[in-house]
Amino acid sequence: MRILIVGNGGREHALAWKLRQSPTVDEIFIAPGNGGTALEGTNVPIAVDDIPALVAFAKEQKIDLVVPGPELPLVLGIRDALDTAGIPCFGPNAYAAQLEGSKAFAKRIMQEAKVPTAAFGVFDSFEEARDYVLKIGAPIVVKADGLAAGKGVVVAQSTDEAIAALKEIMVDHAFGSSGNHVVVEECLIGEEASFICFCDGTTVKPLPSSQDHKAVGEGDTGPNTGGMGAYSPAPVLPAERYDEIIDLVMKPVCETLGKQDRPFVGILYAGLMMTAKGPYVLEFNVRFGDPECQPLLMRFDSDLAEVMMACVQGRLAETPLNIKQETTLGVVIAADGYPNTYPKGMEISGFAEAEAIEGVKVFQAGTSLANGVTRSTGGRVLCVTALGSDLAAAQKRAYEGVDKIKMDKAYCRRDIGFKGLR
Ligand code: AMP
Ligand code: GLY
Repeated sequence: MRILIVGNGGREHALAWKLRQSPTVDEIFIAPGNGGTALEGTNVPIAVDDIPALVAFAKEQKIDLVVPGPELPLVLGIRDALDTAGIPCFGPNAYAAQLEGSKAFAKRIMQEAKVPTAAFGVFDSFEEARDYVLKIGAPIVVKADGLAAGKGVVVAQSTDEAIAALKEIMVDHAFGSSGNHVVVEECLIGEEASFICFCDGTTVKPLPSSQDHKAVGEGDTGPNTGGMGAYSPAPVLPAERYDEIIDLVMKPVCETLGKQDRPFVGILYAGLMMTAKGPYVLEFNVRFGDPECQPLLMRFDSDLAEVMMACVQGRLAETPLNIKQETTLGVVIAADGYPNTYPKGMEISGFAEAEAIEGVKVFQAGTSLANGVTRSTGGRVLCVTALGSDLAAAQKRAYEGVDKIKMDKAYCRRDIGFKGLR
């Protein structure tokens, strides 16, 4: 098989690393890729949102399977364009990708599918949204409808804070057209978990639970980032409860989309809040989480290319998903200043020393490789990931790996996994 992966993060390095282990995969291209994917296949300089160029490349190179990593190409319709070209794509079409691309769409589907989610209103007028905030009171959550790179959500502790967020999104257009509509919703209390499943339109099969660390600072303080580390499984969502979440959330959503002849194929990711009243859905993503993908794929013990192909061909029911029993944990190394402005171009070394530790793999995100030298190009630079017999063992190994990496102007959280260890 010839595979084209779309994206350039740590998730895409992990996808390339795992797909390369598949005996049926002959060649992997990554568009645009990074310094890590360059070690697993061939990087191709095409941007993730250039759908015509990606489809043309896939045709020209006789690609057998396209694997979009991030949400943007899916929301822009890469699956639909590849369908037209007759090239298999592991991901949902543009209609189903609205589950992530529009929070109002996701809320409507959840309502129709009777999936537990926070009580909400959808507004396109600032005055009506403000009146709703004043009626419900704080704490309350304000969300820009469209893609906002993880920044369009404000959990407001006062009505003043909520109204300020509404102004920023709807009047000042801080997130452009993604703020033409807002979702205002009830604030839920509990611990978060990620639940990520393979779907073939009918069958849903889960990966183990995982937990991301969105805040920049230790103890979950400070502004949100793309994710500073992750581990799997998350004790807050044990394996005994996977069937419950599949029946309560995943199947009803897939059935609702299927009923409209819009089957969901690919990865369906539910961001859950485990509340005293049971699990509630905070959001859906239509692709692997980054950094959750890195620890999840280290536990994955089946042929990933075969599982993805089975999803595309509607054969997931008869395709086994084997998972290693061990725990995995990944620590993100970021450039100083991230998620705000940060320096680039720092030289990175110590990969071999880190990977000499049993069970450690260093996935690269914002990096480039030229003349044998790896340099930083982004905010999240690496995700040092380790397998261990339990969470404490995985954490210890991951930080031993982190300590072997040499990079100036870098930082990481030292407490990844703390909620699971508590
Ligand atoms: P989202 O992109 O919708 O997942 O929101 C980003 C983050 O905001 C989530 O990971 C939660 O930490 C927080 N959040 C979103 N919705 C709620 C809610 N209804 N109640 C409490 N926290 C929320
Ligand atoms: N780690 C959260 C996400 O990928 O959206």
